[in-house]
Amino acid sequence: MPLEGRTAIVTGGASGIGRGIADKLAGAGVNVIVADVCREPKRGMYSDLNQPTDKLLESAHGVESHYIKTDVSVESEIIDLISSTMNHFDRLDILINNAGIQIPGGSQDITVEEFNKVLGVNLTGAFMTAKYALPYLNESSAGRIVNISSVNAYFGAGGAPYAASKAALVNLTRELALEAADAGTTVNAVLPGVVKTSMQELNDESTQLREEEKTPLSRLGEPEDVGNAVRFFCSDGASWITGAELLVDGGYSAGR
Ligand code: NAI
Repeated sequence: MPLEGRTAIVTGGASGIGRGIADKLAGAGVNVIVADVCREPKRGMYSDLNQPTDKLLESAHGVESHYIKTDVSVESEIIDLISSTMNHFDRLDILINNAGIQIPGGSQDITVEEFNKVLGVNLTGAFMTAKYALPYLNESSAGRIVNISSVNAYFGAGGAPYAASKAALVNLTRELALEAADAGTTVNAVLPGVVKTSMQELNDESTQLREEEKTPLSRLGEPEDVGNAVRFFCSDGASWITGAELLVDGGYSAGR
């Protein structure tokens, strides 16, 4: 397998897109740390999953995988995450900043505390994991960071803090790419469109149907669609791509 023996941290890897990314990386032979606030996958319209991601990866792909309870908005938990990862694997090649939350609403609905909460997970969380992981990633011959942003980086909707955090994450990606380039570590962003996860259950069914109609490729995305793009950025074939952003949205943005 092309990425065999490498190690990755996937934040928010218990459910949804993070689980899809972890599955694709493990399928390529990567050992995965699942860093999430909870180990059990979320249940709902798009998820009826009975196995924690770490167990799934071990049974389906034969890689080594561990769950480490982590709230990415808490600095001390990220420091513990990185040191536990090094204790398990003694190397770190890939960091996937996928954990994200959304609180819908505009400036009159959302409190300042809620605004900061979303930024704390979606933006500051990604900064902090990069800050503490980068020294180890730079020791790898193929260090990789992939940040999961959103089509909402380009336009409104999704809530004031969500859109702001996802746009900022794209520019954080560029800044980190410049910083890490000397060591050969690449930093890229993937911007998903509407993907079938519990996050979409914040929208009612008619809204989801409208989103599907606005998607030229005529279906909502699956977590695996995002996982495929992330796996590409982690591959040796992407070693000369950094600071880039890739839309994975079924053409959603092309028509706006
Ligand atoms: P989800 O809600 O299904 O899964 C998110 C995962 O992150 C959960 O396992 C949750 O426990 C974990 N998480 C939440 N807060 C955390 C924290 N503070 N620390 C660690 N883990 C935490 O969401 P989904 O849809 O899988 O989203 C994943 C990423 O993809 C997010 O960054 C989201 O903004 C982004 N995205 C999702 C889209 C969609 O349509 N589902 C579209 C565009 C971007």
